[in-house]
Amino acid sequence: MIFNILPTLVEIGLVTAILLSQYDSIFALITTCTILLYIIYTLAVTEWRMRFRRTMNEMDSKANNQAIDSLLNYETVKYFNNETYELQRYDETLASWETSAIKNQTSLSLLNIGQGTIISIGLTLLMLLAGQGVVEGELTLGDLVLINAFLLQLYLPLGFLGFVYREIRHSLADMERMFSLLEQKEETIDRQNAIPLKLNGGAIKFDHVCFHYDANRSILHDVDFTLEAGKKLAIVGASGSGKSTLVRLLFRFYDIQSGSITIDGTDIRDIQQRSLRQAIGVVPQDTVLFNNTIYHNILYGDPTSTKESIITAAKQAHIHDFITSLPDGYETLVGERGLKLSGGEKQRVAIARTLLKQPHILIFDEATSALDSHSEKAINQQLQSISTNKTTLIIAHRLSTVVDADTIIVLEHGRIIERGTHQELLSQRQHYAAMWALQQTQGHHLK
Ligand SMILES: Nc1ncnc2c1ncn2[C@@H]1O[C@H](COP(=O)(O)OP(=O)(O)OP(=O)(O)O)[C@@H](O)[C@H]1O
Ligand SMILES: [Mg+2]
Repeated sequence: MIFNILPTLVEIGLVTAILLSQYDSIFALITTCTILLYIIYTLAVTEWRMRFRRTMNEMDSKANNQAIDSLLNYETVKYFNNETYELQRYDETLASWETSAIKNQTSLSLLNIGQGTIISIGLTLLMLLAGQGVVEGELTLGDLVLINAFLLQLYLPLGFLGFVYREIRHSLADMERMFSLLEQKEETIDRQNAIPLKLNGGAIKFDHVCFHYDANRSILHDVDFTLEAGKKLAIVGASGSGKSTLVRLLFRFYDIQSGSITIDGTDIRDIQQRSLRQAIGVVPQDTVLFNNTIYHNILYGDPTSTKESIITAAKQAHIHDFITSLPDGYETLVGERGLKLSGGEKQRVAIARTLLKQPHILIFDEATSALDSHSEKAINQQLQSISTNKTTLIIAHRLSTVVDADTIIVLEHGRIIERGTHQELLSQRQHYAAMWALQQTQGHHLK
């Protein structure tokens, strides 16, 4: 504004004033018209061109996404022999990027040609008029040179203005996606009077909870249960029945539609999210590690902890011996999302990480599903001793891992259909008993 736009505007004003006062008003009229035409043309064409710029940006990020996605999932690409398919998809996106980039460039040339033409016509008209004036003796040769100098002086910064305006519009278009990202609302926000969680054992209560991710498909219906402080609750049920969703709700990743979830009597919507999440430790169903060392990945549970506590946690998760057997030990890099570790190793790193956090409430979502029976049994014994007197929530498909829970809940299509201890449920001879019998006959798990 200060060095380009303002001086140009002042200059235009002064030159017009001089032309108006010293010479025939036709000079000022032509100058003003040329400038107005120039401005209107620049605004209109730049506005029209923005669509190409936007498509270009869109295609650019789409191509980037595709490249990253197919590289991250390179194993899947190979398993399905889909290198050519991926290549083709990438190529198509790049081709549409190319098309819009060419349109972007051609329309820029069009803009420049138009601007040049407008200025040239204006200049030519004025020079013709001035020349005519000299021929007729109304103007001196000096006047002609003066007018010419004025106009050149005027049109150069005008061209520069056009350039600045275009650059600003380009940059704004490039930033649009960032702005829309910044405008995204958080799913859950702390209430203004939210308080830190005051733990008193960590009793969890789901009170008639109903929940859906999308309004047209409800996931949980009237889920109602209490987990007393220091007790152990197991949730079993078919795939997709909403078990992991319960965990996400407890972490308050989403707000429920009706009912309430309380910890030690306080609704989690009244608790500061940081303190809520600090108190709960979860071993999630799908473990994803960071592309860093094993040490870093375990440290992630509590970045302030010491090397000793990391080793203790690794020992509790039965992974220490494995780690030390590696050539690089704790400094071994695990690859993107941990792909250089086996499923069971990843799971044990995740367990170690959660144990390091030392949460008051423990959640295991299929935490040992990727382990062989032998390691599973060993870890479960360890976890049992760690979780004594801690509020614990276990989600499992293998029922043998939940027999000692204080309460077992059977979830089906988002509803609790049975609840009780292992013995009680067996004697009810319903869903749980049937599931148990099935797993026994399959020899699914050898106790
Ligand atoms: N982010 C999401 N958006 C929309 N629907 C979702 C989302 N996450 C899960 N769902 C749906 O919610 C239902 C319950 O999912 P959830 O992960 O809780 O199942 P689950 O009981 O843990 O199953 P599993 O035993 O296979 O892990 C599923 O039908 C799933 O399709
Ligand atoms: Mg799940």
